[in-house]
Amino acid sequence: MKKHIREYYERLYRGGSGGPRALGGKPLALELGYPAGLIDLLPGEMWQDFLPCGNILSRIDPKAGERVLNLGCGAGVDSVLLKLSARAEFRVVNLDTALPALLKARGSALRLFSGHGFEFVCAEGGCLPFLPGSFEWIILNGVFNLFPEKRELIEEINRVLKPGGIVAGADLCRRVILPGYFAAEPDAWAWCMSGALSREELIEAFEAGGFSKLDTAAENMDEFFDRTVFTFRKNGSLEGRKP
Ligand SMILES: C[S@@+](CC[C@H](N)C(=O)[O-])C[C@H]1O[C@@H](n2cnc3c(N)ncnc32)[C@H](O)[C@@H]1O
Repeated sequence: MKKHIREYYERLYRGGSGGPRALGGKPLALELGYPAGLIDLLPGEMWQDFLPCGNILSRIDPKAGERVLNLGCGAGVDSVLLKLSARAEFRVVNLDTALPALLKARGSALRLFSGHGFEFVCAEGGCLPFLPGSFEWIILNGVFNLFPEKRELIEEINRVLKPGGIVAGADLCRRVILPGYFAAEPDAWAWCMSGALSREELIEAFEAGGFSKLDTAAENMDEFFDRTVFTFRKNGSLEGRKP
């Protein structure tokens, strides 16, 4: 399934059409509550590759010198919006399995910030090429449901976050037991549907993985799914962090 999902997104970011792309972009950003003033700062063509499941910007507030991992960054739109809205000097590492996505993310960071404060890593999210405790923040926007093995992903997130670090994510949560055709349709995995947990299962999975819930906010999407924004704190406390 991971191979199918990677190839799906490689095609999509290389310029293929269809799938969720038609449903994303600026109209979705506005619908999800991304601030209009911020949205206007981003050149129009950067929006077409934005495929979020929720507005996570209000959930993260990196301080000077901190590191943010944007896991499954896609075209990196959240990372440039975060930099445009931030007051502090922090670094964002954009990571994705799909190289064409990273190239777009890099192009946007170069254009808007001369690349300053950004890194780009092509890697598998279930096997992160970072030392333990490398990040204060991890963003997962429309990515969690793409992992058939949630425990493996949560263990990796736990490993590379500092104690007290925060994972801020957005994804679909299932409202009902999904009909069998979701699991049988490989593209429905890539659309963040087939891998959806219920909100209770999501909370249980993070709590079992060493996190405490800070917040979950759900908005009904249709009979099957709620769009859900969630934040969890890795147990422990960040040492030496400025308030
Ligand atoms: C729905 S898109 C969301 C992209 C971006 N976060 C956004 O909001 O526009 C999902 C992204 O996750 C990436 N992805 C999927 N599986 C992954 C994995 N196992 N490891 C790393 N990235 C992955 C895809 O290549 C794609 O760029």
